[in-house]
Amino acid sequence: METKVLLPTQKNIETVGDALRDGALVGIPTETVYGLAANALDGSAVKRIFEAKGRPADNPLIVHISDVSQIDRFHLVTEIPDSAKKLMDAFWPGPLTIIMKKGDVPDEVTAGLDTVAVRFPSHPVTKRIITAADVPLAAPSANTSGKPSPTAARHVFHDMDGKIPYIVDGGACEVGVESTVITVAGATPCLLRPGGVTLEQLENVIGHVEVADAVLHQLKEGQTAASPGMKYKHYAPSAHITLIRSSDEKYIEYVNDRAESGAAALCYDEDEPKLSVKTYPYGGRSDFDAQANRIFDVLRRIDEDGVETVYGRCPDTSGKAMAVYNRLIRAAGFEVIELA
Ligand code: TXA
Ligand code: MG
Repeated sequence: METKVLLPTQKNIETVGDALRDGALVGIPTETVYGLAANALDGSAVKRIFEAKGRPADNPLIVHISDVSQIDRFHLVTEIPDSAKKLMDAFWPGPLTIIMKKGDVPDEVTAGLDTVAVRFPSHPVTKRIITAADVPLAAPSANTSGKPSPTAARHVFHDMDGKIPYIVDGGACEVGVESTVITVAGATPCLLRPGGVTLEQLENVIGHVEVADAVLHQLKEGQTAASPGMKYKHYAPSAHITLIRSSDEKYIEYVNDRAESGAAALCYDEDEPKLSVKTYPYGGRSDFDAQANRIFDVLRRIDEDGVETVYGRCPDTSGKAMAVYNRLIRAAGFEVIELA
């Protein structure tokens, strides 16, 4: 199959809207990362998403809408709890996914769970595509399963060329990491995946939010993940990444000592001039927005350059850096060296 990359002209939006409604898979831009979309009401279309990505069948998808009224119109959930209403008012449209009790959604979307993840993206092109399709869209990130998520149309083309008919190019993604995922289906709201909306922002709106173990820690053998996606090795380039938790000086010394081996540094912008190895800066030390925005592109470039060994700065876990930490710790297979 030939994969066409389309600009978001009105005619092209109508073309992909019709194709989506008829069961095709389309790469779509959002403000977080690019998605691989299908008609969420069409179980067999949704099944093909799993095939194109090589995604494990037990990992549920997010349902994307372009208007809050579509939740009722398509009976996506059985009820909208008060906490969900507050979160929608505060953060939608935007990078927040809310998990509620499932209504009439095919089992292929929810991997058989009794809950469904719903998101209302803020990217204007995403809204136009969903509105043109006139159905909710199931969409995971548009990467091959396990690889870094795509933040540009060319990343989607790299992973999906020949597998899908269309990719809509909406430019570079602003947030750069996937949406924050929170469940309000249980007794206490629980953060399942950190993203563009921070834990602090969520708690300002609905009070205490628990944080699922898998967000910051590696699950133990036999422990089940509240969010199935969090249990897999993820976001990983082919390179071997080790994170270093240390002072600036210790990090620089550690990496420079290994310059002969051909290792590279996934560093903060400030470290670059002091390093004698190939550098992949992913943002300023305190510029968490830039770190989120750049991390996936940098991980992909490490692979394009054929780098084999990478020593990375271990990100902070506060604010938006929690999302960067959550992704990088998985890209590194939870391998962290502490230098006192
Ligand atoms: O920003 C985003 O959320 C992007 C864009 C395309 O919207 N989408 C995305 O989808 O990141 P995906 O499939 O890569 O990640 C969805 C995550 C997975 O970790 C999955 O396990 C979790 O959400 N999830 C989905 N439905 C769930 C449910 N009912 N219960 C628990 N976790 C769920
Ligand atoms: Mg993903």
